[in-house]
Amino acid sequence: MTESAPLNLDEYGIYDGISETIVTTIQGWFPNAAPIGIIRKDDRIYVRLFKGSTTYFNVHSEGVLVANVVNDPVIFVRSTFSNLKESDFNYVSVAGHKFPVLKDALSWVFFECNNIKITNEALFSELNPLHGNVNLNLNLNSDINLLHAPNRGFNAVLEAAVHATRYKLTNDEKYLKLIHACSVIIAKCGGKREKIAIDMLNDYLGE
Ligand SMILES: Cc1cc2nc3c(=O)[nH]c(=O)nc-3n(C[C@H](O)[C@H](O)[C@H](O)COP(=O)(O)O)c2cc1C
Repeated sequence: MTESAPLNLDEYGIYDGISETIVTTIQGWFPNAAPIGIIRKDDRIYVRLFKGSTTYFNVHSEGVLVANVVNDPVIFVRSTFSNLKESDFNYVSVAGHKFPVLKDALSWVFFECNNIKITNEALFSELNPLHGNVNLNLNLNSDINLLHAPNRGFNAVLEAAVHATRYKLTNDEKYLKLIHACSVIIAKCGGKREKIAIDMLNDYLGE
């Protein structure tokens, strides 16, 4: 792929530090979505994918990914534990390829994955942003509102989902206690989407 004008990731809501996005990838006809942190440090952008996930497999074989910026906690939980529905995706044409993005993304950035390094546990890749889009058609009155003050309940959903992926891997009960602590914050501070999200997460964990 060839590079055109460099993208300014700030314009797509991906700042320095770790941005929690929903990464969409494809294998054959099958789209996949999962929460993944996009790491931006100084001028470097990269990703770390743990072995065993579909995202790891797809990035390893295709060498591209899309980071979708999403502020709906329900999408974070659904994409952590299950496959999203075909109707959750739109397809865009980038560099001659059809690629899945999330319909409800506030913005998305298409990245080429360079200098892929594989360790025993994970894959590291530098990310080169090739194309981006800001979804200006989102309805300000919908659940997916562009204007959103920080909400501790939303942050607690992200924390709970991270603990839940670790619990699934290790079965260590300490993660259930941490998820419970997040649930208390969500009950106090969350809105209805955060409450739906934590109920779904607990259902997935079978509690
Ligand atoms: C907020 C959040 C951030 C995550 N970040 C990463 C990450 O940076 N790298 C990674 O390998 N997994 C990360 N995960 C875990 C994956 O999303 C999880 O393993 C997922 O089930 C993988 O789905 P897949 O098999 O469809 O790719 C994260 C999970 C959450 C909830």
